Amino acid sequence: MLPQDRHADRIESLIGQMTLEEKAGQLNQEPSTVDVPLDMVEKGLVGSLICANSAYAGTDRQARVRAAALNELQRVAVERSRLGIPLLFARDVIHGHRTVGPIPLGQAASFWPEGVRRLAEIAAQEARADGIHWTFTPMLDIARDPRWGRIAEGFGEDPHLASVMAEQVVRGFQDAGLHSGKGMAACAKHYVAYGTAEGGRDYNTGEVTPTTLENVYLPPFKAAARAGVATVMAAFIEFDGRPATANPDLLNGILRRRWGWDGVIVSDWNAVAELVNHGVAADLAQAAELALLAGVDIDMAGGAYWRHLPDLVRSGRVPVEVLDAAVRRVLRLKAACGLFDDPYTPEDAAIVEIPDEHRRAARALAHRSIVLLKNQGGILPLRPGLRIGLVGPLANPQAKETFFGTWTLDGEEEDMTDLLSAMRAHAAPREVWHALLPDEAVAQARLCDVVVAVVGEWRHRSGEDNSTTTLDLPPGQTELLQYLGRIGTPLVAVVVAGRSLAVEPVLEAADAVLFAFHPGLEAGPAIADVLMGDAEPGGRLPVTFPRSLGQVPIYYNRKNTGRPVPNFRYRYVDRPDSPQFPFGFGLGYTTFEYSDLEVEVDRDGLRARVTVTNTGQRDGEEVVQLYLRDDVASLSRPIKELKAFQRVAIPAGRSLRVKLSVPRQAMGFFDGEGRLHLEPGTFTVWVGPNSEEGLQTQFRFDG
Ligand code: BGC
Repeated sequence: MLPQDRHADRIESLIGQMTLEEKAGQLNQEPSTVDVPLDMVEKGLVGSLICANSAYAGTDRQARVRAAALNELQRVAVERSRLGIPLLFARDVIHGHRTVGPIPLGQAASFWPEGVRRLAEIAAQEARADGIHWTFTPMLDIARDPRWGRIAEGFGEDPHLASVMAEQVVRGFQDAGLHSGKGMAACAKHYVAYGTAEGGRDYNTGEVTPTTLENVYLPPFKAAARAGVATVMAAFIEFDGRPATANPDLLNGILRRRWGWDGVIVSDWNAVAELVNHGVAADLAQAAELALLAGVDIDMAGGAYWRHLPDLVRSGRVPVEVLDAAVRRVLRLKAACGLFDDPYTPEDAAIVEIPDEHRRAARALAHRSIVLLKNQGGILPLRPGLRIGLVGPLANPQAKETFFGTWTLDGEEEDMTDLLSAMRAHAAPREVWHALLPDEAVAQARLCDVVVAVVGEWRHRSGEDNSTTTLDLPPGQTELLQYLGRIGTPLVAVVVAGRSLAVEPVLEAADAVLFAFHPGLEAGPAIADVLMGDAEPGGRLPVTFPRSLGQVPIYYNRKNTGRPVPNFRYRYVDRPDSPQFPFGFGLGYTTFEYSDLEVEVDRDGLRARVTVTNTGQRDGEEVVQLYLRDDVASLSRPIKELKAFQRVAIPAGRSLRVKLSVPRQAMGFFDGEGRLHLEPGTFTVWVGPNSEEGLQTQFRFDG
C-alpha cells in the first residue's frame, strides 16, 4: 500500500485537530535555509520550505543544503510544534544536482528520452541524499521566442518532444518511489503558456487562443499528469485578464476536473501576493482568497495564505472544505514522501565524489545535445597531428563555470574539467595552444593548423528574467570570428548558449560550426570528444533557428495560411521567409539515406517503416523523425507536426529498418473546448532527418 493511503486515517485525524492557523500553515511555503522563521515553524505556521535564499535562485549564487542542517529544522517541526507535522523541503534541482547535465533545451536536442530520464534519476538520488524531497522541474513551457531567457529551461518549441521529455523527467525523479530515499516529487511548471510572454520579456502578458492552448501548450502538462507528476506550479503570466494563479478554469477546471489529476498545485514565487500588482486583487487577503478558490494549494513565499486564510474562512469568504481539501493534498504529499514514516534524512548518504557512472551519463547526454550546423570539407573531427589554437572568450579555463548554464544551484566548479585541459588530455598526437586575448588569438591563428573559437553566452544571459532584445552573439564576438575567418587558417566555431541565436555571421566566418546548449558538468570533455571525433555531435535542433530576430516568432509547426500562392510566397521583402535551420536539423560525422517508406493505418493508429542506411565511413546515430499533416480538417491544422521519433545507431555501410508508430489519439486534434477530433480524411506523412527533409507519402485515415 502506498504511504499516503496507509496514513489516510492519520491525515484525517490531523485535519480534525488542526486550528485554522495550522491548516493555513501547511499551505505556507517559506523561503530560505539561511534565515528560517523558527518561531513560525514551532507554531505550525510553515508547511514547506524552499531551500533558496532569493527569488532568483536560477541566477543568484545559492547556499548549499545539507541533510544535517535540514534535519535540525525538521526536529523543530516534529518535536516542537503542537502536532509534529514534518516539513517538506523543496529546491530547484533543474538539470542535475551535483552532476549537472545539459540545460533542458540541450536535453531536448538529444532526442534521447532514456538519457534524459537517467539524468533525472541521478539528480533525484543526489538531491534526496542532501535532504530535499521536492524539485521544481520539469519546466514544460513551449517556447517560440528565443528572446525569452527561459527558453533555456524548457524542451523547445515542439509539443510532442516536450511531452516525451516531460514523461521521462517525471518518471526519472519519481518512479523509484518518493519515499524510497532515491526518488523525489517532481513539479510540472509553469502552468501554462508562460512562454507566450509578449516580446520575449519575462513575466509579460501573453496571448493564446483556446485551440493553441489545447494543441500546443497543454499537451506536455497532460503528459506529466499522466506520468503521475506529484505537483504543478501555476505560471506568473496572465492572459485574457486572468493571471494563472487566480484562474479556476485552468487549475480546478482543466487539471483537476477534466484530467482527474489529484496532486498539489503550488504558486510561483510570491505570485499569490502579486495578484495585487496584476490588479485583480485589492489586497493580500483577496489575493489569498482568489488563489485558493482557483485551486492553488501552496503559497510560495507570498505570505498571503498564513496571514489571511483563517479570517477568510471565519468570515465565510472561503469555505472550510476548500481549505481542508488543500491541506489534505499537502499532507498526502508529505506521506507519499515518507515523512510520516521517517521525517529525517540519513546524514552520511550525500555523495562526496561524483560517481563515474553519473559523470558518464552526463557526458553521454552532453554528446547528444551538441548540434553540428556546418562542416565544410569535413574539417571535423579534427585530424591527428594538427596544431590547434583554442581561442575565444568561452575557451578561457577560468570561465568554465559558464558551461553549467542557468539554474545550477549545486554544481561545483571544482568538479569540472575545462575545455583546454580536456583537449590536451585528448591531444596526443595533436598540440593544443591557447590564447586568451583577441590579439593573441589572431597571432596564434596565423601559426596553427586550425583555430577552434569558443564563443556564445555566459550562463546568466539566459534563464529567468534574462531576456534579450537581440539574437546576435554578445558584443565583439562576431567581429572576432570574422577577423579570424579572414586569416585563412581553417576555423571551427563552437557556440555555447542558452537559446537559439541568429548564427548567419558565424556560418559565414567559420568552416565548421558546433552549437552547444550549455552542456553542464561534462561540457569540457564532451566538447573535446566531439571536436576530436571520440563522439558524434548527436544533437538535433529542438527549436527553429531564425536568420534574424525579425523572423521571430518562427516555428516549424505553423499554419499554411491562405497565401502560400506564387505571387504572395514570401513574407518579407528584405530576407527569405525560410529559417536558417529547421527544427530537428543536425549534421553528423557520417551520412544517412532514407528509402522504402511504408505506412499502415488501422484502429490503433499509424505504423511506419523506413529503411535508413549509413552511407558514410563511420558508425553513427540518426534521429529518425516522423511528421504528420491532417490535409483537410474542420479547423486548419499545422503544415506538419512531429508525432514520433527514434534515435538509432547504425554501423557504417549498414541499413536498418526503423519502425515508428503514432497512436490513434495522436492523429487527432483538440478544439477550443478540449474535445478531441478524430476526423476521417487524407493525411500526409514525412519520415526523415529533420522537419524539412524526408520521404513523403499520403494515406487515408477513417477517424
Ligand atoms: C521561478 C520558478 C522557480 C521558483 C523557485 C521562480 O522565480 O519562476 O521556476 O521554481 O522561483 O525558485
